[in-house]
Amino acid sequence: MAFTYFFRDLQTLEQMVEYALPALKNRRQINVWDAGCAHGPEPYTIAILLRENMGHFMFRNTRIFATDIDISNQFGKVIEEGVYPDEEIKRIPDEIRTKYFRESGRPGHFQIADDLRSCVRFHRSDLLDLKPVSTDLGLIVCKNVLLHFQEAQRVDVIRMYHNALQDDGFLMMEQTQKMPSELEDLFEQVVPNAQLFKKRCAA
Ligand SMILES: C[S@@+](CC[C@H](N)C(=O)[O-])C[C@H]1O[C@@H](n2cnc3c(N)ncnc32)[C@H](O)[C@@H]1O
Repeated sequence: MAFTYFFRDLQTLEQMVEYALPALKNRRQINVWDAGCAHGPEPYTIAILLRENMGHFMFRNTRIFATDIDISNQFGKVIEEGVYPDEEIKRIPDEIRTKYFRESGRPGHFQIADDLRSCVRFHRSDLLDLKPVSTDLGLIVCKNVLLHFQEAQRVDVIRMYHNALQDDGFLMMEQTQKMPSELEDLFEQVVPNAQLFKKRCAA
């Protein structure tokens, strides 16, 4: 399994809740793409944060497209079932864990709530094919993936993200992933201390 965990880099995710979510809430349908999602802790963390910070009704209109190259061909099954061992969920804050996870029937394993599972859809795909899951996205999350690519590939993938975002949509990357200088005109950095960017539209 790829290295990932629930509530990883909470600081950046909290910036997303504070600065991107108010704008996303104005849309009738909220489409999120988690690109390089591994076996699910990240898209389910995003689902939990969105569910906690928007009403039940609006959450029903939220879709998280979770994609990964998934060389093991196992992520789809894990994400669809939403069943995780105790050691993977024990770092989640208690009140969140008890609210969104229940006994799965498999000893030492817990299943995430149905409304979160139905919000997350997994597809296998290679980002380097440059095919977006949608061109109507409010938020793209791509963390700890682009560092594996060459600079020219990073530029191509981020340019694809720009094309796939709705006007004023958001892109979130990990703290160490800076925006390539040739793409700076395409995005506005929302806060100086997080790699959270808003799409700039052509004038
Ligand atoms: C370190 S994990 C990051 C998981 C999660 N985004 C996080 O930050 O915790 C990197 C993920 O990127 C995926 N990945 C690597 N190259 C990829 C590609 N070309 N297309 C799609 N996913 C890729 C890997 O399969 C892996 O699941």
